[in-house]
Amino acid sequence: MSAYIATNDRYGRMPYRRCGHSGLLLPAISFGLWHNFSAHDSYENCRNLIFTAFDEGITHFDLANNYGPPPGFAEQTMGFILNEELKPYRDEIIISTKAGYEMWEGPYGNWGSRKYLFASMDASLKRLGLSYVDIFYSHRYDPHTPLKETMTALHHLVTSGKALYVGISNYPDKQASMAINLLNQLGTKCLIHQTKYSMLERTAERGLLNTLDSNGVGCIAFSPLAQGLLTDKYLNGIPDNSRAAKKHTALKPELVTESLIDKLKALNGIAAKREQSLAQMAVSWLLKDSRITSVLIGASRIDQIHECAKAAHQSGFSMQEVTEIETILGNSQ
Ligand SMILES: NC(=O)c1ccc[n+]([C@@H]2O[C@H](COP(=O)([O-])OP(=O)(O)OC[C@H]3O[C@@H](n4cnc5c(N)ncnc54)[C@H](OP(=O)(O)O)[C@@H]3O)[C@@H](O)[C@H]2O)c1
Repeated sequence: MSAYIATNDRYGRMPYRRCGHSGLLLPAISFGLWHNFSAHDSYENCRNLIFTAFDEGITHFDLANNYGPPPGFAEQTMGFILNEELKPYRDEIIISTKAGYEMWEGPYGNWGSRKYLFASMDASLKRLGLSYVDIFYSHRYDPHTPLKETMTALHHLVTSGKALYVGISNYPDKQASMAINLLNQLGTKCLIHQTKYSMLERTAERGLLNTLDSNGVGCIAFSPLAQGLLTDKYLNGIPDNSRAAKKHTALKPELVTESLIDKLKALNGIAAKREQSLAQMAVSWLLKDSRITSVLIGASRIDQIHECAKAAHQSGFSMQEVTEIETILGNSQ
């Protein structure tokens, strides 16, 4: 394997958006390691996915303590790539990780206690081979831990230098608002909220996006392709090697219904008129909203990254296109 050298023109390829009212710019498209970075995946492919993303100007890589399987493996792989191959570029890269789902047995390996967040952060830093992460998230709202305890732990992770910024993920609108206020009182701004958002998943539109915008908090949209449904991949059923065909993934084959395929085919027709693939239109559709800081994609192959990256430059939609899309999705007024 020859040493990796990043492309010279990478920063001309990707637009960057300011993350809320902060000093941090994030790429319009970020790359996540939830899938395809397990112990069963080829290291060569993992390495090529990361390099391809970085060459496209994707400077932000998103992880969590539990990404694998086994949990922690994605951080370990990213740590190896960062330290062996990307070391000269560390200051050009934003690494995020999270804690909030089950990581180890017993009462201290899950949810939002200070005990869990501190231990998980140290374990993540060890796996990543880093002295700090750029963004650390509370991965989900914990209804049993006082929110002040979780937010104070995030604040202290920043003051201890282990995280440069903190964010929240999967918090419902009301709890997100409370978390943002608590962090403000502590003197650490909530940088960003990571929420599921795509043409097929619209919960964020019911208050959350406005809450974040009005508080100067960025928004990064995960699963923008609905795990691959919003691509041309499932137009003729479930192909081998797709996420829906694999065991133990969150994309259950029963979700690929005839009525969904009809909608995807109609959306694909609009994408074709825009001279885009359906995947590209799904990414562009999110980026048309200035409240979205970044669209957080996953990929199993490098060509998927190249394809999605092109969408960063085509975020304009006509009123007619927007109306047609909403009609297909059954959201027309
Ligand atoms: N905060 C949270 O709770 C949370 C939850 C979920 C995800 N996330 C973050 O969001 C990231 C992205 O999530 P995601 O992987 O569900 O995102 P996604 O972009 O909706 O789906 C990615 C999958 O779609 C398929 N795909 C991608 N580009 C394609 C293309 N151009 N043509 C055809 N198929 C394409 C690939 O699946 P195949 O394997 O079928 O090729 C790929 O693995 C994660 O890695 C993670 O960082 C966060």
